[in-house]
Amino acid sequence: MAIIYQAKKAVVAKPAQRLTISALDHLGQGLARLDGRMVFVPGALPGETVQVKLSSQKKNFSKAELQKVLTPSPERQPAACPHYQQCGGCQLQHATPAAQLRWKQQAVQQLLCHQLGLEQLPWEEAITGPDFGYRRKARLGVWYQQSKKQFQLGFRQQGDFRIQPLMQCAVLSPVLQPVFEKLLPVLKRLQQGRSITHLDLIDADGVVTLVVRHTEPLPPGDIELLCASWPEACWLGEAESGQFTPWQQADTMLHYSLPSQQLMLRFQPDDFIQVNDAVNQQMVATALDWLAIQPQDRVLDLYCGIGNFSLPLAQQAAEVFGVEGLAAMVERAATNAAKNGLSNVQFAQADLHLPWPDTGWSQQRFDKVLLDPARAGAVGSIEQLGRTGASMILYVSCNPETLARDATQLLRQGYQLTRLKAVEMFPQTRHLEVMALFEQS
Ligand SMILES: C[S@@+](CC[C@H](N)C(=O)[O-])C[C@H]1O[C@@H](n2cnc3c(N)ncnc32)[C@H](O)[C@@H]1O
Repeated sequence: MAIIYQAKKAVVAKPAQRLTISALDHLGQGLARLDGRMVFVPGALPGETVQVKLSSQKKNFSKAELQKVLTPSPERQPAACPHYQQCGGCQLQHATPAAQLRWKQQAVQQLLCHQLGLEQLPWEEAITGPDFGYRRKARLGVWYQQSKKQFQLGFRQQGDFRIQPLMQCAVLSPVLQPVFEKLLPVLKRLQQGRSITHLDLIDADGVVTLVVRHTEPLPPGDIELLCASWPEACWLGEAESGQFTPWQQADTMLHYSLPSQQLMLRFQPDDFIQVNDAVNQQMVATALDWLAIQPQDRVLDLYCGIGNFSLPLAQQAAEVFGVEGLAAMVERAATNAAKNGLSNVQFAQADLHLPWPDTGWSQQRFDKVLLDPARAGAVGSIEQLGRTGASMILYVSCNPETLARDATQLLRQGYQLTRLKAVEMFPQTRHLEVMALFEQS
């Protein structure tokens, strides 16, 4: 066998740099300039002078590691969570909630203005909710550490596939927070605990639900132990199949309510639900307000899920048509309409990334459209929206980058951006959702 000797690469110590942070980007990283080039500094805040070490250099930008904050921002604060530095769940706990929102909104403003060629945007007061304790649904990874013969429960670490072991998580709904203390001792006692990959926690209108995802069937004794430790509701299911069955006393349907509309929406563990209840209620109210639904209106709700917007819209409109990609959720949306006594709403399954079908809802005229796509945005559908004849289009976005791309299309189709709201769905994180109203000029 040939042995090739390679000279060791010389290790060049990179000198520390001093930078002034001018803004946060849409990923929550500090932005600075060095020799005319953009530098991204995770952990640094606008207005701060920091000492950094460059970690990677590309043609147009560099990345740097924060070594020391030399002049802290008055809006810097100690992180509330002891796991913050390692856990990948939150990125902005080191800033006050007001500053987080302001900087995230500025980043979206810059992105949208740049992409749409606009100088000003029609921002209205943001939708906000509690700073902590807001998450009613979360998925925790389960990890067995062979060396310590211990189970760990947590989210993925920053920039890593490994799980950061947690003993608490302050963004979880208060009823979900005891999960660590309650479940870690139980996992240890299971025979087949190592086949559990994830635990989903759901606060379904106060009913705490545990969903156990496993790769191998669990012995009855393990199921008994696990589910008895979580007495409200426990569902079990193979990790990849999406098929879950409730254990014994579990209610066969989870639900959440929209109190102002007196609606109750039922869902299954794998269905999408908006994770921040307080914020979701305000989003629904804003959608009704902005779309100013008239009794004669026909409304199209794209990416409708289990009917979170379709049902409130149907309470005011003549007719609503909801379209969703997952057949199971279409079925749930229809059941939700029926259970809530609404007969003027229909649902259809379609992959909205593909050309719209040439029969049914896609050939009809609608007065107003609401769309709430996943992070990929409305690629494939946005070009076709104009043919609905809608005078108003309300875009609920969880990804400002795809909103910017799709908004460009809407402006090309003759719509104008008339109202805009930041939606603080995930405080302490880099994410910002946006509601944007487009009207035919
Ligand atoms: C952000 S959720 C919004 C759901 C609902 N509007 C709500 O408020 O609960 C996005 C929805 O789009 C659906 N979806 C994702 N990709 C899709 C596609 N290509 N075609 C149709 N629906 C899709 C998802 O299943 C999910 O229900």
